[in-house]
Amino acid sequence: MSRILVRGGRVLDPASERDGPADVLVEDGCIAQVAAGIAAEDALIVDASGCWVTPGFIDLHTHLREPGQEYKEDIATGGRAAVAGGFTAVACMANTDPVNDDPATTDFILDRARHDSPARVYPVAAATRRLEGQELTEMSALVDAGAVAFSDDGRTIMDGGVMRNVLEYSRLVEVPIISHAEDRGLVAGGVVNEGAVSTRLGLPGNPAVAEEVLVARDLLLAEFTRAHLHVAHVSTRGAVELIRRARERGVHVTAEVAPHHLTLTDEAALGYDTNTRVAPPLRSAADRDACRAGLVDGTLDAIATDHAPHAQHEKELDFASAPPGMIGLETALAVVLDLVRSGELSPIELVRRLSTNPARILSRPGGTLEVGAPADVTVVDPEKRWLYDPAKGYSKARNSPWTGQTLSGRAVATLVGGRLVYDAMRGILV
Ligand code: DOR
Repeated sequence: MSRILVRGGRVLDPASERDGPADVLVEDGCIAQVAAGIAAEDALIVDASGCWVTPGFIDLHTHLREPGQEYKEDIATGGRAAVAGGFTAVACMANTDPVNDDPATTDFILDRARHDSPARVYPVAAATRRLEGQELTEMSALVDAGAVAFSDDGRTIMDGGVMRNVLEYSRLVEVPIISHAEDRGLVAGGVVNEGAVSTRLGLPGNPAVAEEVLVARDLLLAEFTRAHLHVAHVSTRGAVELIRRARERGVHVTAEVAPHHLTLTDEAALGYDTNTRVAPPLRSAADRDACRAGLVDGTLDAIATDHAPHAQHEKELDFASAPPGMIGLETALAVVLDLVRSGELSPIELVRRLSTNPARILSRPGGTLEVGAPADVTVVDPEKRWLYDPAKGYSKARNSPWTGQTLSGRAVATLVGGRLVYDAMRGILV
């Protein structure tokens, strides 16, 4: 296999606490050497001067829409959007059509991913059949087929007894349960955060307590069952606080937060832009600030995009009729660099939350540039300014609230398993 030398960058490797100038030599798909001034005449050179060289980002929360909704996205386009955004692996949610609730569907996703996706794809299987919240899926067969976690994401398991059983069984197969925590009765058809903004817009509100009630329940059940609970897309101050307290008690909980909940508030919805409709909704400034503080102090372990592609005709409806969700794989890095620019996170701590912690949560390889690790590497130009036009991106979808904005920071090269799969000058290379 060819050799690649990523030369002249600032290496940021949270796993080894390395932060400084070095070259990275990749051989036979793995990291072969990290040192200053590596000579490798025969290697393909990736010029990383002025850039960060990091372990590949791992997205815990992507909707790839295949099988069944390929008009929104598919494994090929989602995988291309991932590597263009610096993600070398994505965990894909089970709310496809059919639902990923049986080993044949998991097999299909992995097979498609092997052929079509430049990014690694980790299927998250449904916790309950057809996401109906009642009958458990065959977890051990699904794990044998390649499922890395279970989730009914998009829907909440409303029955506490079912959630208890899901958590109990997850211990046997040793994978996390990812909770989409929104109490359906309390959401009550709300489409924006309940508060002044929902009143001004005249739209039904979805209160913060709808999330907090379910986060509290799931934390108690995780404590009771001693299972690994992973809380998806945390969006409220109260949820952050509940997770912080549970951690202190020793509950096995991890949590993620989405770029939009770290940077936007419900005020973004004031123009009725349906691209700001998302579940859980954009919240108040106090909630956003609490999510940022939770990410900084480690209560929230990871940043996950919740990349949720929808077609134009679906979003071109009135606010309440448009489906929730926004795309995020290609913008996530630029958006969350805001926390570095503000001084809240150092570059290496940001990389920990985009790469090292997600790898640990899913017990997957990656998240490190140590010698011998698979060469999943992202080269980031943190200063690069670019105009975001989703029509020029790799996702099929365009539902982004950042459309038309000038963003700062971009992945300029991405390696997966030692192959250069993306380079900003030439695009996707596989
Ligand atoms: O906004 C969202 N969109 N939240 C979810 O939980 C589901 C997702 C989707 O599948 O579109």
